[in-house]
Amino acid sequence: MALSGVFEQVVPGSIWVSERPVRYGGVRLRSRTTVVRLEGGALWVHSPGPPTKDVCAALEALGEVRWIVVPNLFHHLQTPAVAARYPGAQVVGPRSAAERNPLVRLSLGADDPEYVRATRELTPIQLRGVPFLDETVFFHAATGSLIAADVLISACARDHWTWRAAARIWGRYERVRTPPDVRVRTRPSAAVAESIAQLRALPLERVLVAHADPITDRPAEQLAEAWEFAIPPQR
Ligand SMILES: [Fe+2]
Repeated sequence: MALSGVFEQVVPGSIWVSERPVRYGGVRLRSRTTVVRLEGGALWVHSPGPPTKDVCAALEALGEVRWIVVPNLFHHLQTPAVAARYPGAQVVGPRSAAERNPLVRLSLGADDPEYVRATRELTPIQLRGVPFLDETVFFHAATGSLIAADVLISACARDHWTWRAAARIWGRYERVRTPPDVRVRTRPSAAVAESIAQLRALPLERVLVAHADPITDRPAEQLAEAWEFAIPPQR
């Protein structure tokens, strides 16, 4: 169900996504915002795009924007504008993103007890050993949804031709992998292996990422396969 054509419902009554085009590394990707309605009606907005009139009207129809989430070092560009539009909301994210973009004013980190207590339905899990991203992902146990930004990527027929062409070259067309730059910039480590094992063990029904459709087919297995390159060989 679309709300004013902006948000698409992923899980009835609790999770919605919206999509917009972004340019990155010479291709045009789709970039998605995930919105979770928490108990009590507060909205948790992950990786928001520009707060256009249509987006804000659609958000306000869903509830009150209480949390604005910067998931990693890359998805912070629209945060200052969204925070200005919703001054009552708290901005949650890694310190590294605020260091990179001085316009981002963080209220709390995703590991801050005050934040964790206030959003019990969403478990934050830091993806360790990937400083290039410095990403924290969020598990919504009630719906088996893992909400992330750049942990996985995949192109499909719905994507712009520039990314479809690049994805074929990089082996990411209709195949779930890490973004190519994440692959290039990540060394195998015990820290990544532990984080991936932790994610793989979750009862996942779907993985929602910023630049792909929801991953619902064997989500835990596909996540583990995509990150196999980062698991150090057993000694
Ligand atoms: Fe991204």
